[in-house]
Parts: sequence; C-alpha cells; structure tokens
Amino acid sequence: MSTFPITCFQERKTPFYYYDKELLERTLDAAEAAIAGKPVKMHYAIKANANPEILRVISSRGFGADCVSGNEIRTAIECGFNPRDIYYAGVGKTDEEILTGIDCGIGCFNIESLEEIDIIASLASQRDRKVTVALRVNPNIDAHTHHYITTGLKENKFGIDLTLLDEAISKVMSHRHLDLGGLHFHIGSQITTNEPFRILSRRINDIITRCRVEKGIEFRFINAGGGLGIDYENPDLNSIPDFEGYIEALTEQLSPDECKELHCELGRSLVGQCGSLISKVVLVKKGLEKSFVVLDSGMSDLLRPALYGAHHKIENISEAGQPADTVYDVVGPICESSDVFGKDELLPVTRRGDLFAIRSAGAYGEAMSSRYNMRDIPGSLLI
Ligand code: LLP
Repeated sequence: MSTFPITCFQERKTPFYYYDKELLERTLDAAEAAIAGKPVKMHYAIKANANPEILRVISSRGFGADCVSGNEIRTAIECGFNPRDIYYAGVGKTDEEILTGIDCGIGCFNIESLEEIDIIASLASQRDRKVTVALRVNPNIDAHTHHYITTGLKENKFGIDLTLLDEAISKVMSHRHLDLGGLHFHIGSQITTNEPFRILSRRINDIITRCRVEKGIEFRFINAGGGLGIDYENPDLNSIPDFEGYIEALTEQLSPDECKELHCELGRSLVGQCGSLISKVVLVKKGLEKSFVVLDSGMSDLLRPALYGAHHKIENISEAGQPADTVYDVVGPICESSDVFGKDELLPVTRRGDLFAIRSAGAYGEAMSSRYNMRDIPGSLLI
C-alpha cells in the first residue's frame, strides 16, 4: 500500500482527486528517457486529464499536446503548450473549433475523413492561411482491449480506411491551403502488451514505403497515437509504465529513412498512476448477506467502473496497516445499480468517516466527471 499525506486530507471536502506530483514527475522523466536521442516527439493527450496544474507540469517539459476540441486547444495554450506543438484530432470538428485551431496557429489538424478535407480547406482559405494536416489512417489492427476503446478496426468511426488513402492524399494535395505533413494512427487505449504496437509499426512502415515508392511522397512526421496501458491491479508495484518497451516496439520495424520523425500522444500512461480519488465512508450498511461500504463518491466522480466494468484498486487509507480480512461491496450514492466500485473487496474493518483511496484514477477520472444527480464536481489537490 502506498503512503498518502493523510493529514492534508483530513480537513478537505471529499471527494477530491489527489495527484502525487513527485510520481507524475518521475513518470515524465521515464517517458523522456525512453525517447532521448531518438527522433521521437512526445505529445500528451489532454483528454486523459485537463487539470490545469497537471497540464502546467507536463507543458513545462516541452511536450506537445493532442487535443480533441476547441476548448482543449484554448486550455492547452493557457497552460503553457506551444501552439505549434498542438495537434487537433476528432471525427466531428465543428467550423468554430477548426477556426479556433487556425486562429491559434496550431501545428496540425489530424483529418479523419475525406469529407473533412474540403471543410478544413475551405475554412483555411477563408482565413487565407495554409494549414498543416495529417491523415488519420485506420490500420485495421486489433488492440485486444475493451471494445469501447478499440479504435483501429475497420468498422470504427475513426480514421480513413487504408483503401481510401490514395484518394485522400490526392484530395489534400489539390488544395493550396493544405500542406500534407504526415500520417496519424491510433489503435486503442489501455493496451497491455507490446505486440499490437509492433504490428502497427510494421504496418506504418509498409504504408509510408509504398507512398514514397509509388507516389514520391515523403512525410515529415508519423504520429503513432497513444494507447500504452497501466497496471490497475498493482499500482505500487508498477507505478511507472514501460515506456522503453513501448518505444522499442513502435520503432523496431520503422526504418529511420522512411520515418523522419515519430510522434506519440500518450494520455493514460503519463497521468494514470499519479491520481487517486479520495472519498469518505458515509456509512457501512449491513445487508442480509453482504455488507456495503457506501462512499461519498460515485460514478459521477469516476465513471470508468460503471461504463467499462473497469476495476480500480480500493484502499481504506484510514485503517492502513490493519489486516484486510473483511469482505465488502464498495458502492457510491448514485441512483444507478452500476454505481459500484468493487464487489467482494477484502478490506480492514471499515467505519463511518474512514477515508478511501480509489487508485490509478489520474487518467479519465476527473476528466470524465459529471454533475449527474446534481452532484458537485470533485475538487483536486496536487502535492
Ligand atoms: N490519441 C487519440 C487519437 C486518442 O483517441 C486517444 C484516446 C489517445 C491518443 C490517448 O490514448 P491513451 O494513451 O490514453 O490510451 N475513457 C477511456 C479511454 C478513452 C481513450 C480515448 N482516446 C478509459 O477511461 O479507459
């Protein structure tokens, strides 16, 4: 069990997200070390966690940003990311959002369909600006992760099918306000083996070699997306993901002659383990066959268990050190049967008022919180 600065928690209104800044820094160190000396640029996928304090720590390292909305672009710039290093993806960018990107001078638009090419070209021409774009190609690779977060398969809404790539390239090149900078890929999230990344790297190499040989096109950069998973069951044992193995898998099959610059856009692996959702036990309810620990946080604060059936490690941090010999279901207060954090959890004897930590919640936790049941948005504390 990790140690929490519990005295700093005592007087705070729960629930809130606690971020361990030291772990975040060490994670960023490891990500930087994995790309040191290589033609690889690290971007952070802001959707994972757009807490301004987290963004400032990451932008101060010189990372780029992967954004998926106009508001993310504005927030990224406010929090110190260089607009030239902001790449904007998304299947349904509105005109207003595209203009935000153009006006802010972002580095690249990742285009997800043939239809979008004309839309971005016409808005760029309206502003009389030439904008750099990358084509998001759907490489048809199974990432073997939860079906809600698999994005590289043929039938997904994301990206342009490989068979339409030539048409897309010609279309981009026919517009004088568009500059084709590279290709973009992303096969899914919470990928826990490196094999899919190895397959991706081979596929990318084949595609860019073919584009060079057949069409004489040399891309300036290739964006391989995000997706590196974290260990939700053992956050203390594996607090820092294996960035080195991931970069190795991605670059193994990529010829440096073909791929001048590789971009990654990681979200979860950079911020997931540094965050915990801290909540208080409202009461312990004795049912006929089960006992329920009812927390003051629920699916409105951390949606992942209810939405994906995800399991995050649950700790009673007030009783740290006591034997975990009692079985409870740990639930939230919200009027939905799926508002459950864990079933049959082995915990120390738990009492009203105890503080709980729901671990590995730094990614897609605070960012996906909502006001369902008119609850307050959880606060945050970065130490
Ligand atoms: N790039 C693109 C184009 C993406 O769609 C995503 C995530 C990323 C990068 C970052 O992926 P990461 O490194 O975080 O795996 N809410 C879900 C995850 C949704 C991921 C969406 N796209 C969850 O809580 O598991």
